[in-house]
Amino acid sequence: MSSSINPSRVHELPSEELAIYRRLDPARLPKHVAIIMDGNGRWAGKRSLKRFFGHKQGAESVQYVVETASRIGLPWLTLYAFSLENNLKRPKSEVSFLMGLLRTYLTNNVQRMNDNNVRIQYIGRTHELEEDVRERMDWAANATRHNTGTVLTLALNYSARSELLDAFKTLHTEIERKELRAEDLTEQDIQRHLYTAHMPDPDLLIRTSGEMRISNFLLWQIAYSEIYVTDRLWPDFRGIHMLEAIEDYQGRERRYGGLNDGTESDDIASLPANAASTLVPR
Ligand code: FPP
Repeated sequence: MSSSINPSRVHELPSEELAIYRRLDPARLPKHVAIIMDGNGRWAGKRSLKRFFGHKQGAESVQYVVETASRIGLPWLTLYAFSLENNLKRPKSEVSFLMGLLRTYLTNNVQRMNDNNVRIQYIGRTHELEEDVRERMDWAANATRHNTGTVLTLALNYSARSELLDAFKTLHTEIERKELRAEDLTEQDIQRHLYTAHMPDPDLLIRTSGEMRISNFLLWQIAYSEIYVTDRLWPDFRGIHMLEAIEDYQGRERRYGGLNDGTESDDIASLPANAASTLVPR
């Protein structure tokens, strides 16, 4: 599934975002940006506020970033909003606050998503969420389903290991039913059973709040993603900071395990027979 993007909305960027956008190569924009939104609790703690205020402010950041993404014509934006581990390990009061915040976010922002041509979808074990939350999620997905711009994917009750486990269980069933032979399994067979089967892999993975961790997010899909970590806490993150991350990304050289462009490969035939076993000459 691809989204058709109208890049002519760049003029809607605030002037400081436009200044960064103008430094970018529009032909090399990432197709998919994924973000680990972290630091809500620390943001609140620094202000002697309860963690809830950090989450509330974090929900504001979400909408700013989504709108910048839609203005620059980013086809796919995926946000890690609530992990399966968050669900299991955080106090019930915090989980229930986050679910309430999600409902409010969806209720209050669907109109803006439609104004911005944004389609919303979800990944994760969402069937395990409370019914009233699922109803609101379905309502928002349905209300934005005809939009053709940025696809906003919220990862909710998401865990990459569970995603892989779910994929392997389905593959096991296919093998049992003799729809597939185990010896014929390919990477594509795994990929087509991921929650993200219809999406390209992220080109750029951003993590806020300075932690150098992946936290069980899109483990399969980020095999070749460029990673950008900023110390900025999520509630302080805005579209301009995503553009800065994209600028950094455009300065990287993506090799996918290959060689640098223009690097000559050694002519193996001209190497001595013991070349692999001898030390590099000093
Ligand atoms: C990490 O901060 C963030 C979360 C666990 C939840 C992310 C939620 C939001 C950004 C707001 C709601 C989102 C939507 C889509 C409405 P943390 O609490 O782990 O921060 P800390 O590491 O500083 O404690």
